[in-house]
Amino acid sequence: MKPRLNVVLVASAGLLLAAASICVQRAGAVKTNCFPELKQNEDPGRERCEQRKCEYEGQQSDNSPSCLWTRGGYIVSSVTENTNTQYSAVLTRQQDYNGPFPGSRDLDELRFSVKAISDNGLRITISDLGGVRYQVPKEALNIPEPGPTNPDATVYRWEANTSSSLLDVYQKTHPDQAIMSLLKAGFVFSDQFIQLSLGLDCQNIVGFGEHNHERLVHDRRYKRWSIFTRDASPTGPGNIYGAHPYFVCTDAGKHMGVLLKNSNAIEVELTPDGIVYRVLGGILDFYVFMASSPESLAQTYSAAIGHPLMPPYWSLGFQLCRWGYRNITEVQNVIARNRAIGLPYDVQYGDIDYMQNTMDFTIDATNYPGLSSMVDDLHSHGQKYFVILDPAISSDVEMHKQVLPSQRYEPYHDGLTRGVYVKNLDDTVHEGEVWPGRTVFPDYTLSATQAWWERWVSDFYYNQSIRVDGLWIDMNEPASFTYEPHKPQNVCPNNTWNYPPYIPTSFIGDRFYEKTICMETKHNWGRHYDVHSLYGHSMGMQSYQTLRNLFPEKRPIVFSRSTFVGSGRYAQHWLGDNHSRWPDLHWSIITMLEFNLFGFPYNGADICGFVYDATREMCIRWTQLGAFYPFSRNHNIKEADGVRTRDQDPASWDAEAQKIMKDALFFRYKYLPYLYTLFHYAHTNGATVVRSLAHEFPNDTAAVRIDEQFLWGSAMLISPVLSPAKLSIRAYLPPEDGWYDAYTGEEVQETGLVMLDAPLEHINVHIRKGFILPWQTPSTTTVSSRNNGLGLLVAAKQLPNSNLKATGSLFWDDGESFETYTAKKFILHEFELSTDETSGNHVLVIRTPFNGYKDPNSLKFENITILGFDTSKDWSVSVNSEQHSEIRVNPNRKTLILDSLSLPLGQSHSITFAVRSAGTALASAVAVAICALLSTAVTGNNRWSLAI
Ligand code: GLC
Repeated sequence: MKPRLNVVLVASAGLLLAAASICVQRAGAVKTNCFPELKQNEDPGRERCEQRKCEYEGQQSDNSPSCLWTRGGYIVSSVTENTNTQYSAVLTRQQDYNGPFPGSRDLDELRFSVKAISDNGLRITISDLGGVRYQVPKEALNIPEPGPTNPDATVYRWEANTSSSLLDVYQKTHPDQAIMSLLKAGFVFSDQFIQLSLGLDCQNIVGFGEHNHERLVHDRRYKRWSIFTRDASPTGPGNIYGAHPYFVCTDAGKHMGVLLKNSNAIEVELTPDGIVYRVLGGILDFYVFMASSPESLAQTYSAAIGHPLMPPYWSLGFQLCRWGYRNITEVQNVIARNRAIGLPYDVQYGDIDYMQNTMDFTIDATNYPGLSSMVDDLHSHGQKYFVILDPAISSDVEMHKQVLPSQRYEPYHDGLTRGVYVKNLDDTVHEGEVWPGRTVFPDYTLSATQAWWERWVSDFYYNQSIRVDGLWIDMNEPASFTYEPHKPQNVCPNNTWNYPPYIPTSFIGDRFYEKTICMETKHNWGRHYDVHSLYGHSMGMQSYQTLRNLFPEKRPIVFSRSTFVGSGRYAQHWLGDNHSRWPDLHWSIITMLEFNLFGFPYNGADICGFVYDATREMCIRWTQLGAFYPFSRNHNIKEADGVRTRDQDPASWDAEAQKIMKDALFFRYKYLPYLYTLFHYAHTNGATVVRSLAHEFPNDTAAVRIDEQFLWGSAMLISPVLSPAKLSIRAYLPPEDGWYDAYTGEEVQETGLVMLDAPLEHINVHIRKGFILPWQTPSTTTVSSRNNGLGLLVAAKQLPNSNLKATGSLFWDDGESFETYTAKKFILHEFELSTDETSGNHVLVIRTPFNGYKDPNSLKFENITILGFDTSKDWSVSVNSEQHSEIRVNPNRKTLILDSLSLPLGQSHSITFAVRSAGTALASAVAVAICALLSTAVTGNNRWSLAI
């Protein structure tokens, strides 16, 4: 790699757009730390450094390591295949070359292979010659390898075994410089410590998870992140619930995504010149994808790991939860009071409180009598019910005798009989501790576990009559309280799995097995040490299959706290136990965006925060923000620091707060047809639903580091308030197309970096010129909103010749059947506004490329609103060739509204706007309409409807 200019942008409070320091970096020489076991900036000193045969640079001021691993010790000893699409070689270790940790045996020979797996993807593996080392099982993740359409069709090329690299990969659009190099220097491959430095010629790295990243674009000043699933709040810099060893790197037209398919513990260190990987087991199995834009890269990755689930329509509604509803009356009160204030509200949850002694599939008969009827009542109001299920199964038979009427906890015994639990090396069942006390852990990688899990979910639904609509699976990192930091007396056996030679310093906790189960325990897919990060993934897969088997007609929905690469095919994700603190609002946007790139478009954080009490202002601002989380749920903890937390559901606040929260949620419900359509494209094409500005405007350099705003699809920009006492915010409105205010329809005059008014009752939303968004008059549940009239918001883009342009689409089906797309039971509409060159007439067409569904509610498009219309002219409007007179215009805001339309969903329609001479009847109609509008403005209007 050649020398290059490296621009490092440094965070400041608020929006960050300026470069803070500029430095020149050495070519391709990732500074690989020879003492990764020391903390950042900890200096081993010259002597220790040289003992390890590393180069001592002395302490540096830029966080770079003082002792560098500059040697390479594996050479290509034979090349077994070398074509355009496949390269294979044997790597041999030089005799005097050893890894830094003597406890980990260095492998003498390795198989190195590179394969073109598609036109835009290649796979690079480095593994043991015999192929016996652990690999992520195919059942867990199977990335297709169709091969390129022809050997020259690839968007990349490679050069293997150059002087400094095992491999240089080029994006063909940028032929002069390798975008990525597997460097020889620093490469170590030993049993429990693999180290590889990846040189990168590309600036902006986004991804790796799951962590709480405080900025979307990574800080590359030797920042380390570890990847290993763990029950830990998204508050510090450590590894948390999921494992996603995937990043994207974009820079001046280059767009690359790199996945390391490995489920062992991983540490990545981001340096100015690349990334150092330190992996505690398995093999190196990289998948590299390249594309022409961030969105097409996201779609490529999604196709590789599997497209995400299509969520049921109702799951886009607002949801309420809390841990600590002490009895069913409290839940019923919450349901009643939120219904009473007319809150848009689709789903209620039951956390572990409903269980007898927090045991799965049991109901606390004393405090939760009539749970079944409560759920039936929710259903009769068009609402849904979710229950939590934890993986760990109570194994304390003495406790069972005391608290269960039957004195026996059948799910536990049934699991024992079927042999479904994770085992110790001596084949006894491994025990840990979770909410109910002593517990055992089902091995969800075993097929027998599927039948067992399904039996008990089915029993809960049918025999205990709790008609749940979805499953919320938690604590599946897996969490166990046996080895918490304050219990140092509890230890796992002293072996190399529990005490590996290297534990990344970026891990939370001192012990490798802290807060989970022992690493030598046995699962069908392998040793816990290797499959730990697949636990939630496998539980998600079996929970999905359970719902598929029990309710074959219905779309399964499972929320999982722990996820792995590809879990999005089976489960959705919420962002875990955040805190009711202002920075958490900002951080939730970053993780939400990352999970869109990881293939989980349906995700969101606990609105108003989980731990501690939210203030009124915070809960209002968070509800406004959360109204735009794809998964929009208010949830909080039972108690914090020994004190019961306050209720934080919307109805628990004062009338003004309630109104503001409802307004935000009604706005969401209004645009659910648009959001649902985005999910259709996510499910069928792998599109993202929520996007960063840089993702949508890759050529706009000012957008690169903005992570306080986000978009729904291409067209709707959300600019929330994320800190207290703000009445205005700084926001960035990319100038490329221009924007309209989503509430007033007014064209935004000033783009770029702007100040926007943001009084407490307002969350800024803008609609991008050139797009058409379908909407529906909202109601308090999606069941009832789906009966209401549809509308189109047409955000016209004015082309230089005063032609207008806008496009959009709508996907519609029954909202809950499984795979309506493949079953062809859906309607697809495409909308287009254009201008006829010869006549100058504007034409809005509603096309119907597919109609395979009859909506029972006989839905119609009843209103079409066009923003950016030339209202100085007198327009004659014909709808499907018939004159239409219900027109309102607002000349100040250049909006034109067609009311009282009746255009059936599923049919094609055409609307023509022709200029006619002044003085006709329309002029007087318009005048009347303006007056009507003015009076509406004075009397006020719902915030969700355009106040134009
Ligand atoms: C975990 C979950 C949280 C839940 C709690 C009790 O902390 O992340 O959402 O409320 O367990 O079940």
